[in-house]
Amino acid sequence: MCTVTCIASINIAVIKYWGKRDEMLILPVNDSISATLDTEHLHAKTTVMTSPTFKEDRIWLNGKEEEIKNPRLQNCLTQIRKRARNSNQWKVHICSENNFPTAAGLASSAAGYACLVVALAKLYQIEDDITSITRSGSGSACRSVMGGFVKWCMGSESNGADSIAKQIVPASHWPEMRILILVVNDAKKKISSSIGMKRTIETSDLMQHRLKHVLPNRVKIIEQAIIEKNFKTFAEHTIKDSNQMHAVCLDAYPPIVYMNDVSHTIINLIHAYNEAVNEVKVAYTFDAGPNATLYLLEESVPEFVGVLDHFFPPGINSEQYRKGLTFREVINS
Ligand code: PMV
Repeated sequence: MCTVTCIASINIAVIKYWGKRDEMLILPVNDSISATLDTEHLHAKTTVMTSPTFKEDRIWLNGKEEEIKNPRLQNCLTQIRKRARNSNQWKVHICSENNFPTAAGLASSAAGYACLVVALAKLYQIEDDITSITRSGSGSACRSVMGGFVKWCMGSESNGADSIAKQIVPASHWPEMRILILVVNDAKKKISSSIGMKRTIETSDLMQHRLKHVLPNRVKIIEQAIIEKNFKTFAEHTIKDSNQMHAVCLDAYPPIVYMNDVSHTIINLIHAYNEAVNEVKVAYTFDAGPNATLYLLEESVPEFVGVLDHFFPPGINSEQYRKGLTFREVINS
């Protein structure tokens, strides 16, 4: 029997991947950039085993057996086996666990698929780039294969050979960077990111403007800001990119709305705070759901957490607001 165990963390995009040019190969319409959290916090842990006694491939997620025939999972397994260096023909058993609520809309699939593919690649002794395999599980998963700030280059080849993730800088480059996650609602999202992306690409005019006139420049600016550790520029473009992703969703037909009133209250609070301190100290970004991820420097954490406690006091007489802070963590990127 051979066994490999790996851990991979979630990543949170500051330039959002939103839209595919090839649904089958999961090729994006734009470059995206994210930070991968450290493995101490929100991570997936996956063990893969092969044995001559296993009769079929099987998978367990958080202790419950799931359907191995899931097409994305099958894509990953097929690609891994095609590229395997050893001649291991045995069936594989996969056990994966998240150390955070899977349904909380916290990029669990990114950590899960990154972890699965890294573990399988070790098992099958694959040494070349595996980010293209993770991509076929969940697009954003390719960015969780590396730590620090990571760029997923959209690439130009039709077979996706150059659509791979690369590290911009390791986490140690910007050790003062912190991430704060505010869980507003931990229910599963109503419109999956796949459906949301497809509808946006097909129906939003604003999306064309984003792709042609905004992103090429924004990607360069934010990459440079990360390299130069320029928090102000980094924060402004992070905020604008999140808002633009949600604007193109609203411009889709029928419109897609992922944020709720609590999300907008958080946005207003952060702009009011940045204005009050006369400096951009906190940036927010929202994925395909109402939960906020905040980027801020270590020195700003105590004061800003105080502000959050003031405006979202635990025990406030509102179920919605109390839920807003059930899962708040200060995490190293
Ligand atoms: O990787 P997916 O298919 O779950 O899509 C992720 C989409 C966003 O989280 C909204 C943006 C991103 O770049 O992570």
